[in-house]
Amino acid sequence: MSQVIIAPSILSSNFSKLGEEIKAVEKAGADWIHVDVMDGMFVDNITIGPGVIKSVREVSSLPFDVHLMIEKPERYVDAFLDAGADYLTLHVEASSGDAIEAALRKIRARGAKPGITLRPQTSLERVEKFFPLVDLVLIMTVSPGWGGQAFMQDQLEKVRAVRTWANANKPMMHVEVDGGINAETAKLARTAGANVFVAGNYIYRSKDYASAIASLR
Ligand code: DX5
Ligand code: ZN
Repeated sequence: MSQVIIAPSILSSNFSKLGEEIKAVEKAGADWIHVDVMDGMFVDNITIGPGVIKSVREVSSLPFDVHLMIEKPERYVDAFLDAGADYLTLHVEASSGDAIEAALRKIRARGAKPGITLRPQTSLERVEKFFPLVDLVLIMTVSPGWGGQAFMQDQLEKVRAVRTWANANKPMMHVEVDGGINAETAKLARTAGANVFVAGNYIYRSKDYASAIASLR
């Protein structure tokens, strides 16, 4: 199965020293940096935009995995790619199917890696048609909006289905899980077929980032 990738979510980090927090997880063995973008519309919370991403981008050489939780994300694809996003993941619920498809193709055309995701209550059928266009499918294992929520085991069925599709059609496609990931839930998700593990609180609220990251592998 594909390589295990650990992606700390900076949402749970100390924003007063964001650059240091990114460097700290890089040093502690992180593979990617997961960046949660929220607009107060698609989800209630508001986080950061392209300006902040652009300024912290230069502190790390790790891939930036940018998860857009914003309405009509097609409006901001260029801005987030200009800011240095390597992976750019869009919510299927955030716009029309045509707009999402065009945005995914644009991400690819600009040399970055497109991803598609869905809320826990959204059926997997809604995203399946985008699988051929993406490098990553993100299965949300909490409702998007906040860190520190409990892992939703019922989403593992989607992880299994996406991995089955990937094995048959596109073995290099990443299957990512995000929300409530810790050493135990990472194991469940891994068994179901996930290979990219986003973790916010579990890493950034731990005393030792390196052992938290190692325990997810
Ligand atoms: C939630 C975000 C997550 C969040 C995960 O909307 O997409 O990336 O940071 O946080 P934890 O790992 O604390 O559940
Ligand atoms: Zn996320």
